[in-house]
Order: sequence, then structure tokens, then C-alpha cells
Amino acid sequence: MRVYEEVGQKFPKDMLTILEGLPVDDEAALEARIEEFKAEHGYLVHDIVSISPETPNEALSKFDKAHTHSEDEVRLFLEGEGIFDLRDDDGVWFRFVLEKGDMIVVPAGRVHRFEPTFKKSLKCVRIFKDSSGWVPQYLD
Ligand SMILES: [Fe+2]
Repeated sequence: MRVYEEVGQKFPKDMLTILEGLPVDDEAALEARIEEFKAEHGYLVHDIVSISPETPNEALSKFDKAHTHSEDEVRLFLEGEGIFDLRDDDGVWFRFVLEKGDMIVVPAGRVHRFEPTFKKSLKCVRIFKDSSGWVPQYLD
């Protein structure tokens, strides 16, 4: 995971949860770790989503504008890269670039946006309490 902060700014540690070095090359170990994480934090379901150069831009444009969700956004990267920008309570933005083995938990209600990197290639696990909570709520 790479973190980009403006000069003089440090992202608040309670802004999000970051886990790194998850065992993505060991399917059984990863599945066990995901189930353990779900049980610890009250998440109920998970699935896998992929983005490739063939993915239409319209499908991605839902998430590249500032939005929130009514539940946490949990993503664990199996392949590729993705960019999450999160805004703190003072309106300062921070950038987190996730790679294979990284997991992010964007808390419910935290303003954020997402886009793939220029490679437009990623595969990640999504973990939910209720997948209907994934609908983006835009700021305006
Ligand atoms: Fe989102």
C-alpha cells in the first residue's frame, strides 16, 4: 500500500483500517482469514469483482466521484491496483494505492472516491454486512 499525503498532513489513523500482507497466494489460508475477519467484525457475505481494460468506463464512473455508503466498504486486493481517495473531517484528501495483499476498510459515512490505476486491471474481494449498503450516495 502506498499513501500520498499533502505536505504537512498526516492522515488520521481512525479514518480507515488498513491490513497488509494477507495470504492471497494461499486460497485456503485466505478464505480462513476472510471468514475470521467477517466473524470478528460482523460482516456476513463476500464476493469477488474484477476490472479489466474491457470494463466500460460508465461502470467505473459511479465510484470516481465523491460519495459515501451506509455501510463499510471493505476491499481486499488479489491482483492489480486500485486508488482510494478519502476525505478527513476537515476536508483534506488522502490517497491510498492498494496492491495485491492489501485490504482497506472505509467506514460507513466516510467520504471517498475510487478508481483503478492506468493499468485498469484488478481483482478484489468485497466484504459486506448487506450488499444493498454498497449503493453510492453522492454529496450533491
Ligand atoms: Fe465507495
